[in-house]
Amino acid sequence: MKHNKSVTPKIAPSLLAADFSRFGEEVDRVVAAGADLLHFDVMDGDFVPNFGLSPLMIDAVRSKTEVPFDVHIMVTHPLRYIDALVDAGSDMITFHIESDDEPYAIISVIKAHNLKVGIAFSPKTSCDEIIPFLSDIDLVLPMSVEPGFGGQSFLPDTFEKIERIHQEIKDMDVPPEISVDGGVTPEIGPVAARHGATILVAGTAIFRCEHPDVVIEKLRTIE
Ligand code: DX5
Ligand code: ZN
Repeated sequence: MKHNKSVTPKIAPSLLAADFSRFGEEVDRVVAAGADLLHFDVMDGDFVPNFGLSPLMIDAVRSKTEVPFDVHIMVTHPLRYIDALVDAGSDMITFHIESDDEPYAIISVIKAHNLKVGIAFSPKTSCDEIIPFLSDIDLVLPMSVEPGFGGQSFLPDTFEKIERIHQEIKDMDVPPEISVDGGVTPEIGPVAARHGATILVAGTAIFRCEHPDVVIEKLRTIE
């Protein structure tokens, strides 16, 4: 299917914003609210100055749902984590182009496990860095905040990056998904989708509210 801007985006709640004291119930809450994917942020305290979720936590909730697990790894050495993330039940793994391992080596290891593979890039990295990989990956993720922390404000120049990537992939037979992550709200998400984003990741907006189903529905409504 060609890449089409009018497609309803998939919504991926980011578990980094969940109440960790009741992690499993938080998974149930957003699955019941209509999540299309669940987004897990894995960090190593080195690539970014913070820690996030771990393969143990992903594994702990894997049996709760069939909803695909979208795992975003903010780590210096992605190759060291892939086996554990596969065993934990990941469906797709997105690594950063700024990490230290060789991108094609990471892509081939993830694909060898029959998982989908994505590449994320941080706000200061040019789109040009990821263009050569677009025909080899399933997802591209222009970060709309500095990676590492939830609750930051969306950087508006991300819209141009989404548009640029959309132009690059729109005629491919099997184009990658364009995801966007960081500061996505019910106001911003539909605008990102109109620029070509097909997956909207949202942490604070979905978890820090009483009615995640309402927020998810607003995020999805692009007209
Ligand atoms: C940031 C993470 C995001 C984060 C988004 O490094 O990759 O997934 O959880 O959180 P919000 O939606 O609160 O910006
Ligand atoms: Zn993320």
